[in-house]
Amino acid sequence: MKVLIVGGAGFLGANLVRYCLAQPATEVTVLDSIEPRLHATIGNLADVRSRIRFIRGSVLEDADLAQALPDQDIVFNCAAQTSHSLSMQDPLFDAVQNCIGNLKLLEGLRRLNPGATVVYASSSTIIGGSAEAVIDEEHAERPLDIYSANKGAAEKYYRIYHRAHDLKTVALRFANLYGPYGKESPEFGFVNYFIHVARTGGEIQIYGDGAQTRNIMFAEDAAAAMWAAARTPGLLGEAWFAAHEEHLSVAEIATAIVRAVGSGSVANVRWPDARRRTEVGSVRISSNRFRSLTGWAPRYSFQAGLAKVLAAKSLFVPA
Ligand SMILES: NC(=O)c1ccc[n+]([C@@H]2O[C@H](COP(=O)([O-])OP(=O)(O)OC[C@H]3O[C@@H](n4cnc5c(N)ncnc54)[C@H](O)[C@@H]3O)[C@@H](O)[C@H]2O)c1
Repeated sequence: MKVLIVGGAGFLGANLVRYCLAQPATEVTVLDSIEPRLHATIGNLADVRSRIRFIRGSVLEDADLAQALPDQDIVFNCAAQTSHSLSMQDPLFDAVQNCIGNLKLLEGLRRLNPGATVVYASSSTIIGGSAEAVIDEEHAERPLDIYSANKGAAEKYYRIYHRAHDLKTVALRFANLYGPYGKESPEFGFVNYFIHVARTGGEIQIYGDGAQTRNIMFAEDAAAAMWAAARTPGLLGEAWFAAHEEHLSVAEIATAIVRAVGSGSVANVRWPDARRRTEVGSVRISSNRFRSLTGWAPRYSFQAGLAKVLAAKSLFVPA
């Protein structure tokens, strides 16, 4: 089985590389531009470098796609602009990465490898604020920031390329991943950032009372979901929520981290205006459809995932 992981040096991608390498008879290629604005680093692949084919290149470049795409059985796309706040500061950069980048990949597949299965890592934030007690695939899409709008647009490209060109596409909507190979910076996933702050003895600042709930999931469980998605033809052409059913308040998450790490503290602060305007509120996601179609289920509770991340040697990319 030949597998290409686009964005494989990033947080989710680096976890997916390890997951794929653990599967029998799997050859892994990574295409990654090591984008400096996303704090990307080849260091995330250091210990597996000799076991993969690595192409330093961009999904935006036809020549790089021509090197990477032919002969692959599965293409996982984890490459993206991944900061909500950067998408508001530089919406054009976000659109190039999150819209044009996905169109380039789909066009490349149409030309060079139309038989491959392509799994796109999308985001639960494409729906914006939650209008229902439980969110599933029927929920309306009213994104609150440019990143989420563009991730939602890209999902539709995958759907269209399936319908119009018979490409084998599937999109998975993830929410709040944490785990090794993440980033210390507050601009990216908040759980990894909270862990970093606690480990360095700092104060985790929660906006408002922290009562807003989030589904959170260990990155290895997300990697397993991508692998399961690539092997389930019944998913093709659609987008599916792949989240842990565990949903905790932001305050509970911060407190659990401080307790597990054994250092750091938690404080409540006023909402910064820019963050308040893009805040999604309480979210509770159901992945029942994805689970019943694939048999996938997350393996790690928050407690178990936290213990594993704290034991990991390669933790986070410095801010
Ligand atoms: N981390 C989360 O909590 C989370 C939640 C929901 C969805 N997602 C989605 O999962 C995917 C992976 O997220 P992540 O947290 O690993 O992000 P990340 O920023 O850690 O990794 C992104 C990787 O993509 C690479 N990249 C960027 N532009 C590229 C290009 N043009 N060509 C090739 N490589 C490029 C970067 O160098 C980086 O290594 C993204 O699509 C993101 O939207 C992540």
